[in-house]
Amino acid sequence: MWPARCRFDVHADDAAFVKMLEADVRRGLSAWPRSIPPKYFYDEIGARLFERITELPEYYLTRVEASLLSRVAGEVAQRTAPDEIVELGPGSCRKVRWLFDALRSPAGVRYVPIDFGRDGLRDAVSGLTRDYGWLHVHGVIGDFERDLVHVPAPIGRRLALFLGSTIGNFEPAARAALLGEIGRLLGADGRLLLGVDLVKERSILEPAYDDAAGVTAAFNRNILAVVNRALDADFRLDAYRHHAFYDDAASRVEMHLLATAPQRVHLPKLDMVLDLHEGDGIWTESSYKFTRASTEAMLADGGLALDAWYTDEHDHFGLALARPAASP
Ligand code: AVJ
Repeated sequence: MWPARCRFDVHADDAAFVKMLEADVRRGLSAWPRSIPPKYFYDEIGARLFERITELPEYYLTRVEASLLSRVAGEVAQRTAPDEIVELGPGSCRKVRWLFDALRSPAGVRYVPIDFGRDGLRDAVSGLTRDYGWLHVHGVIGDFERDLVHVPAPIGRRLALFLGSTIGNFEPAARAALLGEIGRLLGADGRLLLGVDLVKERSILEPAYDDAAGVTAAFNRNILAVVNRALDADFRLDAYRHHAFYDDAASRVEMHLLATAPQRVHLPKLDMVLDLHEGDGIWTESSYKFTRASTEAMLADGGLALDAWYTDEHDHFGLALARPAASP
């Protein structure tokens, strides 16, 4: 039973998801280099593997961002005084708690999470409503690349959260478009808190995406299982090797799957047969890394301007507080 102050709008139906996956995988596997978009990592198994990644010793991002957020939440809450917190891709909804804990007058505050993981989001939200008696929730179950139009009209000052450096998965043009849409959600007095992983030594970046326990490798391969299930395809997961490296000219970590032997893959729903030579790759993810300057440039491309910039003591992770460039 849900408390009356909680509602969910579902904009993700399975058929629409499979259609989108079909189109994306057809485009990605027909092009050169071959690719599959990283949004398809996150089925139930993938989401669980990602949770395990966040606990790995090598994967500093989540820990550093959480400790930074715990340090600056009071200041962010004070500067932004939100009536409403909209969060893109909250996952477990753990991070927003730092902000809830820092709100001065939380009565009437509404939380609007938008996430694809239906059951995951409902479970996470039920934990929040249990712990924050004052909280109102209007959840949007959908894809934040497509369904931001379904975010309800604002009830007051808005703070949008886009954390975890998920923005780093997007290419510059897509990133500007997404930030532009977030800007439109904000209204003149709204703010965005954006998490960005920062450029740093290769010796720290590469192990974060190629951990000793092999969890990231399993996470990477799991995207093939997602495609197999959605498209009746026959990718053999054990025939691909996880490959991750930092390209410092492009400021991004890339993840690929490399065929360890020649592979013929059938994708009947796409009417496609794919022949891979030994060593041929499928590019599954880019994770861009930023500096303060490149973050400001990215925000500007999306019509936003930097209000405040926070980093941890080692400059490993950044939180950018941004406002629509046109507003004071
Ligand atoms: C959730 C997109 C921020 O790029 O670091 C973790 C996903 N990929 N390990 C990231 C991921 C490999 C993660 N993001």
